[in-house]
Amino acid sequence: MPHTIDADAAWVRDAVAAIGADFNRSADTHLVKLDLPCLQGVDLYLKDESTHPSGSLKHRLARSLFLYGLCNGWIRKGMPVVESSSGSTAISEAYFARLLGLPFIAVVPETTAPEKIAAIAFYGGECRKVPAARIYAEARELADRLGGHYMDQFTFAERATDWRGNNNIAESIFAQMARERFPVPRWIVVSAGTGGTSSTIGRYIRYSATLCGQTQLAVVDPENSVFLPYFETGDASLTSGKPSRIEGIGRPRVEPSFLRSVVDRMLGVPDAASIAAIHWLETVLGRKCGGSTGTNVWGALTLAGEMLAAGETGSIVTLICDPGERYLKSYYDSAWIAAQGFDLDTPRAALDAFCKTGRL
Ligand SMILES: Cc1ncc(COP(=O)(O)O)c(C=O)c1O
Repeated sequence: MPHTIDADAAWVRDAVAAIGADFNRSADTHLVKLDLPCLQGVDLYLKDESTHPSGSLKHRLARSLFLYGLCNGWIRKGMPVVESSSGSTAISEAYFARLLGLPFIAVVPETTAPEKIAAIAFYGGECRKVPAARIYAEARELADRLGGHYMDQFTFAERATDWRGNNNIAESIFAQMARERFPVPRWIVVSAGTGGTSSTIGRYIRYSATLCGQTQLAVVDPENSVFLPYFETGDASLTSGKPSRIEGIGRPRVEPSFLRSVVDRMLGVPDAASIAAIHWLETVLGRKCGGSTGTNVWGALTLAGEMLAAGETGSIVTLICDPGERYLKSYYDSAWIAAQGFDLDTPRAALDAFCKTGRL
């Protein structure tokens, strides 16, 4: 007699297959080369993670978290999935929850951009807005009350991702660099929300005989975040008490997925510089990007300036994390910028000068 598989196991099998088929229909994201005449001998690349079906680098994470939850036996048929998120992860998780026919609820900071809340609702997800520091506890309590699964990206991002390969972001970047004149980057520059992206890239660099010792990982951090002081001091109990104004990155507590030991260097980036950088980037790239992309670009240009000053040649890769259309009522709204008290003129002048001199 053939063994008959029970309904719950069949559902998990079909759910994993549905995610696999979705992946099979997807293309890789582009690696865009940014040609800046002031950067002679230093080539700058942007890995465009905004082109995933759910619009950000969090598409990779959401896919990994769902597979991790399914294969651990944590996510079952009909079970509500709950997440604490500043929006981007929740948008991508809502996409996968809809694919699997699961209810999805995001617990988001009350400052989350309305465009992101609309995107979560578009995929059938629900949002609960709470003060930023409460998102973790509220999400856990809600999942317990509903008999659901708390996804907990901040804990599981680093371990749900297959860091050795399986088309993770690191493997994709280094494969796409293969035919460039400096195929082994001098720097990879990323920002941290969960820290999952930096952990995956940092581990992959050590795992690769070609990259280990050649490529260094720099993490850029916005104001009000404890990642930078944690990197400097090793004190994991640090808290900032203030939410980051660059959505998606910079945390008020040290997140478990942020692995300090795989980061070579950290740079603090003023919030005004991150925002000025996306306005400037639009003039050289032809489109709008989210605030964390500005933090990344500011950091990448700073390191490019250092390389030029030292007479070094090589390549730098950073990320476009999500599209600017999600922030039309904040980073691209002059009234919002003025209300926040940001002075964008000074960093913008610095960027314009960089284009002439190669120094930021
Ligand atoms: C827009 C945006 N950029 C960057 C990041 C950082 O990615 P990671 O969580 O892998 O550190 C996030 C994370 O939430 C994000 O939402």
